[in-house]
Amino acid sequence: NAPLTVHARDAAFAMFDGAPTRVWHYAASIGDRAPANPLLRARRGDTLDVRLVNDLAEATTIHWHGLAVDEANDGSGLHPVAPGGEARYRYTIDNRAALYWYHAHPHGRTGRQLQFGLAGPLLVEDDEERALRDRLGLAWGERDLPLFIADKQVGDDNAIVYKDGADDWIGNRVLVNFTPEPHLDVVPGLYRLRIANASNARMLRLAFAAGDGLLPFRLIGTDGGLLAQPWLVDDVFVAPAQRVDVLVDFGTRAAASGAGERVLLRSLAYVAMENEDESGAFARDPMGDHPGAAAMGEAIDLMEFRIGGARPPRVDVPARLCALPPPPAVDGWPVRAFRLRMDAEGRWFINDWNFHDTGHEPVFAVRRGTREVWEIRNSMTSMPHPIHLHGFAFRVVSRSISPPDVRARSVDANGLGPQDLGVGDTVAVWPGEIVRIALDFSQPFAGTQRYMLHCHNLEHEDMGMMLTFAVV
Ligand code: C2O
Ligand code: CU
Ligand code: CU
Repeated sequence: NAPLTVHARDAAFAMFDGAPTRVWHYAASIGDRAPANPLLRARRGDTLDVRLVNDLAEATTIHWHGLAVDEANDGSGLHPVAPGGEARYRYTIDNRAALYWYHAHPHGRTGRQLQFGLAGPLLVEDDEERALRDRLGLAWGERDLPLFIADKQVGDDNAIVYKDGADDWIGNRVLVNFTPEPHLDVVPGLYRLRIANASNARMLRLAFAAGDGLLPFRLIGTDGGLLAQPWLVDDVFVAPAQRVDVLVDFGTRAAASGAGERVLLRSLAYVAMENEDESGAFARDPMGDHPGAAAMGEAIDLMEFRIGGARPPRVDVPARLCALPPPPAVDGWPVRAFRLRMDAEGRWFINDWNFHDTGHEPVFAVRRGTREVWEIRNSMTSMPHPIHLHGFAFRVVSRSISPPDVRARSVDANGLGPQDLGVGDTVAVWPGEIVRIALDFSQPFAGTQRYMLHCHNLEHEDMGMMLTFAVV
């Protein structure tokens, strides 16, 4: 059984009108084809076997975001692959069905490498999800689609632009499945969209705009798979690295009554809360690095759906999607506290740790098989931080001191919104907020395994808002 060989390489693509664009990407060798950043599909229990050959002029990796793997297969900056070198990732997939993703993770270069394109989607399937898929009967690739969204800063010559040292890199172009100005002809019926926010730093407030109004949709899953039940929402925040699984019905009257039978997937305006250096609804571009880019929190269009054709048969969405239990009762679990903050020099910290100081030395160890609550508190003078850890998924237990935009969306006494009710691997912690997550450190590996905990705003990560922890 040969591995799938993937070359990390730099090549030019006709991506926008005019000059070609250099894109760093993973080129998979599949027969005589070399698809760039292909959608990988696997079933839970399958062995994923990938050989990475690094044809770039700098070190890189493939990190399997969200997957419960051991350190050697995690593809973090602990195990960089030198230029001309190679690595083999081979592990059994033991995660719930969901849209995961893979991306480069070399320390200090992750933001640059993702902005230039080193990222792709990975779909994991299992029996539980299969049952829902059969019941919905939406054909994969037709009415059940992955949307891998990332913004890029593109210059006049069509070159992707990146500068080290920016606090958050936002773009003036949005790519969906690596395609600019994406649009899709759709029938007036139900669609399932599995959406990943693969942007470096841009938080999205996803909504479907139809005419002057919004088309409500059902949130059915998050990072780590299906929710127990669908939630009807008007919008959902999707932080960098997060995924949502949604059902949207283009056949509802709201869609049909809009201007010319089209629906826009948009990021609506929101209060960006970049409170660390300024006030105001939208975060500006103080260094002028992002000409033409919508500011953080400003509305942007992501994709257009053009409705036409005959109405397909009606699909009934079950009231119960799967057997996901509610988050565990965590009374008596040990609590580990983390504080997100910036120092006077503008460096981001998790507690007193900045990766540039602490590096690959674990700053704490967790005992395998134990359970912990991690209490993540963000400073008020801060910005939203999407916090992610490797190796383990979690359940969000509570949110407190949330800003109004978050509080307005909470649906339970613990301050959780619908997007908090599933299994997560990345959680947005807003300025002033305290978010508690429940973690179970059971895993089938032995010995010391080192993992990363970091902000998935990639510029923060590269600036050291990251730490190494050990499972022993
Ligand atoms: Cu998706 Cu450590 O990252
Ligand atoms: Cu990860
Ligand atoms: Cu951050």
